Amino acid sequence: MPNCSLLTTLAFFFAVLQASLSAPVASANRLEVFSWWTSGGESAALDALFNVYKKQDPGVEIVNAAVAGGGGSAARPVLQTRLARGNPPDTWQSHPGWELIGQYVDPGYCEPITDLYKSNDWDKAFPKELLINMMTKDRKIYAVLAGIHRGNVLWYNSKLLEQNGIKVGDQMTLDQFFAACDKLKAAGIPALGVGDSGIWASAQLFENTLLGIIGPKGWADLFSGAMQWDDPKVKEAMKAFAKMQDYMNPDHAALSWDQAIKELMKGKVAFSSMGDWAYGEFLKANQKEKEDFGWVSHPGTAGSFVIVADGFTLAKGAPDRDAAIAWLKCVGSKDAQEAFNRLKGSIPARTDVDRSKFDAYHQWSMDSFAKDKPVPSCVHGEAAPAAFEQAFNDAVTAFMVDRNIDNFASTLVLAAKKSVSAK
Ligand code: GAL
Repeated sequence: MPNCSLLTTLAFFFAVLQASLSAPVASANRLEVFSWWTSGGESAALDALFNVYKKQDPGVEIVNAAVAGGGGSAARPVLQTRLARGNPPDTWQSHPGWELIGQYVDPGYCEPITDLYKSNDWDKAFPKELLINMMTKDRKIYAVLAGIHRGNVLWYNSKLLEQNGIKVGDQMTLDQFFAACDKLKAAGIPALGVGDSGIWASAQLFENTLLGIIGPKGWADLFSGAMQWDDPKVKEAMKAFAKMQDYMNPDHAALSWDQAIKELMKGKVAFSSMGDWAYGEFLKANQKEKEDFGWVSHPGTAGSFVIVADGFTLAKGAPDRDAAIAWLKCVGSKDAQEAFNRLKGSIPARTDVDRSKFDAYHQWSMDSFAKDKPVPSCVHGEAAPAAFEQAFNDAVTAFMVDRNIDNFASTLVLAAKKSVSAK
């Protein structure tokens, strides 16, 4: 005959165990930060942010819950599962715009942090029209930005271009780009380094190329529905994007974005169209600006700044709420913005930082941000709902295989229609 009191004790033990597995773990001195910053440059910058936080709050243990995969391609699905199960990290990385509002605020996963803007004078420190508004719903603000990346940058290996007699000026047209590609091809060098094991990297190459042809006004029209995805200008961009594939490194599908940047450093490829998180990789590898690597706006996009901003949220029901609030305060502080962005490649979102602490690339990007037309990125979740972003990535995957412009265009026309009717 089994011992009843033992059974009761065991049942109690398992009930407690189960509860502790499913409920978020709360503790007074812990903070869980979720992101996808795991490449060399990304994790160095994240560590810098952690160090500023640790100085302010030394007793708190930081749990770095980063999930590898550029652009958050693997992290975002993991996060969705955790949020849906009621097991949120205290704070997570999010792009402003559709991603923040549609994925996290509308379903009720975030707590507003409007008070932090008031108590820290952030209303004055961050650009309101452009950025705070992209994080606001019903007059409540839901994130604070760590930095702002410029998505439309074409990086190059300076020495390799010099050896091949290619000069890059302040701007580059698409024709100049293809002329350089032909020269390199004749010398047996794949001109364009791509690492699209995560398809977003090629989707971004297309995004940049599209912007180069339709311009910022066309971009606004396309995403407001005033221009269609089968417009002749859009198709022209698709044609240019197809042509670019003739100059890519053949192993692009096996590489991640940062591996492609490493290929560029080694001189295996000459160019890479990538957001300026690539800068963090050059820095990490001790590459020298201008001497080893250079940059120019992606062909045809000078005068536009593709915004890829990174914010942090406060989880509703954050297990470590006080630590999470202290973290957000830290992210928005001048110290953190200066330490983090120098290593990350992005520029501070605050406009009152000490510019002299930044190098030539950052100066260039800050100038561009101040005077150029801001363009929200579709690939990085700002310009359109998640379903459209997914359809965009899928359409790019298909196009890389069949190069069928009519299919590409009609798929996107349909996806845009669906996304409007779903709003
Ligand atoms: C973007 C993010 C950047 C950078 C990049 C590559 O979505 O905004 O901070 O991490 O992905 O992973």
